[in-house]
Amino acid sequence: MFKIALLPGDGIGPEVMDQAIKVLREAAHRCGLEYTLQEGLIGGNAVDATGEPLPAETGQLVLQSDAVLLGAIGGPKWDGLPVEKRPEKGLLDIRKKLGLYANLRPVKCWPQLIDQSPFKREIVDGVDLLVVRELIGGAYFGARGTQDCGNEIKAYDTIEYSSSEIKRILQVAIDMARQRGGKLTLVDKANVLDTSRLWRRITGEMLAECPDIQTDYVYVDNCAMQLCRKPGQFDVIVTENMFGDILSDQASVLGASLGMLPSASTGEGPALFEPAHGSAPDIAGEDKANPIAAILSVAMMLRIVCHEKKAADEIESAVNKVLDRGLRTDDIMSEGKERVGTKAMGEAIVEELISM
Ligand code: IPM
Ligand code: MG
Repeated sequence: MFKIALLPGDGIGPEVMDQAIKVLREAAHRCGLEYTLQEGLIGGNAVDATGEPLPAETGQLVLQSDAVLLGAIGGPKWDGLPVEKRPEKGLLDIRKKLGLYANLRPVKCWPQLIDQSPFKREIVDGVDLLVVRELIGGAYFGARGTQDCGNEIKAYDTIEYSSSEIKRILQVAIDMARQRGGKLTLVDKANVLDTSRLWRRITGEMLAECPDIQTDYVYVDNCAMQLCRKPGQFDVIVTENMFGDILSDQASVLGASLGMLPSASTGEGPALFEPAHGSAPDIAGEDKANPIAAILSVAMMLRIVCHEKKAADEIESAVNKVLDRGLRTDDIMSEGKERVGTKAMGEAIVEELISM
């Protein structure tokens, strides 16, 4: 029995997860996967209910699961809270607690949505890349502080990486490159940072043993530019935590809408799957959100943790079919297409699965 912890979170989180669960139910039924679902609190709603963004009970729940499905967290209601109580803290804590060091963010330009992209068609056509972001090291978790020095206030955050932290994330990126186009790009700032120089050295050593993989080294500023200029050159991008945070948001624009982008975070224990978008409080509860990112996150879970490749492929193909049929939520709407809500989009994808 496969144990799933369901953490719908805040804003549009619960409504996109409702649709993702409908799709999971049908996909699991088709492949004979047996699972249990247990719900927990995280983020702003958890703060309201318990005073903590990641209550102890949720911590227990996720540790006892095989996988975690998360909606989204945060909203203006909680923006004024001290750092320790902010919804984001719940997300950072769950990453650390589960040791989720590898964050996988695939970005693909869906041909049906190519004209939705703010980029010219010839730039985004065929884009299919994966950002592998280190998720529990670097500036996010290094020593930090704020010091009052009388007439000045000084604050600092430190980036630290050990060779073992770098090796384990590189191994994930190498495995991914092997499963994909065989090309790996290390993104760093090795012309300035010591941590980057260590990443580069270890990458050189590890990749020397992998003649099947084509390796590239690109500085992060140049990578930001290349992602807009010629994104088709990238297959797998591997990078440290903060560079990955920034570049994955930038790369997401190549895929027409954040509402189409799933993500997975893996480590030694249970893995976590979540749409790449945020909680979009401005449209929460209005049946306007795009559930496809959440639905594709379920597909990633089936593929990565349950080893149900066929079920995952079927979900992706059902999404393709509803896009072919012209169904569009607000974020991907264009002239001549059929505007649908969150629920109708989820149900149309389930119908496609049933008819396969
Ligand atoms: C992300 C988000 C988070 C991050 C925030 C919400 C803490 O931007 O998942 O990319 O910076 O990692
Ligand atoms: Mg981010």
